[in-house]
Amino acid sequence: MRTSFNVDLSGMNTFRMKVKCRCLVEYDSVDELREVVADPSLPRPLFPIGGGSNLLFTKDFPGTILRCGMKKIQRLSPDRVHADAGVVFDDLCAWCADNNLWGPENLSYIPGEVGASAVQNIGAYGMEACELIESVECVDTRDASVITIPKSECEYAYRDSRFKHDWKWRYIVTGVIFRVSQTPSPVLDYGHVREAVKERFGTDDPAELTPAMIRETVTSIRKTKLPEVEEFGSAGSFFRNPCVSKYFYTKVSETAQNESLGAVPHFDLEDGTVKIPAAWLIDKCGWKGKSHGGAAVFQKQPLVIVNQTGKASPDDVVALAKAIQDSVNERFGIDLNREVEYV
Ligand code: EPU
Repeated sequence: MRTSFNVDLSGMNTFRMKVKCRCLVEYDSVDELREVVADPSLPRPLFPIGGGSNLLFTKDFPGTILRCGMKKIQRLSPDRVHADAGVVFDDLCAWCADNNLWGPENLSYIPGEVGASAVQNIGAYGMEACELIESVECVDTRDASVITIPKSECEYAYRDSRFKHDWKWRYIVTGVIFRVSQTPSPVLDYGHVREAVKERFGTDDPAELTPAMIRETVTSIRKTKLPEVEEFGSAGSFFRNPCVSKYFYTKVSETAQNESLGAVPHFDLEDGTVKIPAAWLIDKCGWKGKSHGGAAVFQKQPLVIVNQTGKASPDDVVALAKAIQDSVNERFGIDLNREVEYV
């Protein structure tokens, strides 16, 4: 275990915000984490971060940042894999593809670690982490006990779980058990995935595809649409895609028609609501490429705010995000909710 004080966090958040934390603890086992949790001398709150890829530090952090140094992946049975919270999620995708196991291939190249994937229910290209999760192992911060929580208790929803609400300060995720499969089960029906697979490999026949082929395709799609963290700091999608009632969707469509904006892209959800891409709403409000201080709306995917100059301050990002929310609300009457957490 390594404990340090007044640590610069700019290398530990993908937005590259230059902030400090009062204390940083990097632990290498569940027992070490239990010691940390039981140690009253460490500044509170205790805040676990994974890759720091879904948050914006808005100021110096007064408590203790926890980082998980456990990085093992283990096959428990033919269709179950255990990954430590500190495993880079894309390394899990690569490991499954290398072992010809179906499961997380559509989630390839999403930044962040396994622990955060279970909190955030990461998703992409027609797949969500919760579809693969069997159970989540945690340390309870109340009494330093360990607990395995079945997926059914986690209340998973679109980019959401109990770990973001009533369990937020209670449980620290230490590992996740995922269900995988040796039977070909490609998920191809989101956006251009099927076309892209066919173009690359000349087939979309599940019997001829491998998880590695889907992984390669998804990775290449993501690379064309989303900024590379090495080039521009960002936290991926800044906003969630709003879900509205069917009635409200027709109102948005009328606004779009009156303003010659074309058809409003949308996805009908099982619960009867309609998901509208926030990227479309932001695009139609004219935000692509616009900047505020060092922060800017990414040209190729306006759902992403980037640290364009490398010197953006938290206030630049907050002000730009607020201006986007205000303009989408004014034009379409829709409140955009953030996916990125402000710390
Ligand atoms: N669009 C525009 N203008 C643009 C770009 C997109 O109008 O410049 C519209 C298009 O209609 C497009 C639609 O937005 O069809 C949706 O775009 P896309 O499918 O690329 O993805 P998204 O809905 O914007 C979500 C996730 C991404 C994930 C992709 C792919 C959220 C908030 N974001 O984005 O997740 O990679 O689907 O599955 O649900 C992330 O969480 O960091 C992330 C990148």
